Amino acid sequence: MILFDIEQFLDLTNYATDIRKDRRKSKEVNSQEFFTPYSIVKRMCDKVSDEDWSDPKKTFLEPSCGNFQFILCIVWNRIQHGVDWKTALKTCYGLDLMADNIEEGKQRMHIMLSQICPDYSRQVASRIMNKNFVCANFFEWDFENWRSYT
Ligand SMILES: C[S@@+](CC[C@H](N)C(=O)[O-])C[C@H]1O[C@@H](n2cnc3c(N)ncnc32)[C@H](O)[C@@H]1O
Repeated sequence: MILFDIEQFLDLTNYATDIRKDRRKSKEVNSQEFFTPYSIVKRMCDKVSDEDWSDPKKTFLEPSCGNFQFILCIVWNRIQHGVDWKTALKTCYGLDLMADNIEEGKQRMHIMLSQICPDYSRQVASRIMNKNFVCANFFEWDFENWRSYT
């Protein structure tokens, strides 16, 4: 049996985030991008109770999710607490202003789920993620109805 650790999935060294940030600056887009390293994500997620992680009815929202550092850790924790991967994904929501961050996050989620969930389906995961993880401005987003105001 292969044992996985969340740290390997939250390793940011292979992502060209600084290059993207510089490119945006040159176009005068200030997106304030800094992706939270594993150690801090873990410390914050450790504040959530076991009861909340394991409750399939709880929902989680990351309104400026970047390339999914927190989203990955949330879904990971849900699965570790006995929630099935589809429910873990369906109950997690994320927004980011930058389309490339959302796309990178989705790819990272596929990598993690395909390695830790024996019954993972790329098609099912994509369907859920396309609804729950969107490129949008949170100032213009109707969170209750999960759609744009405009
Ligand atoms: C400091 S980064 C944090 C990313 C992630 N939460 C993390 O901790 O790794 C801030 C993120 O917010 C996004 N962002 C900035 N303004 C936003 C807005 N109005 N609506 C949605 N996302 C926004 C940026 O694109 C960027 O990815």
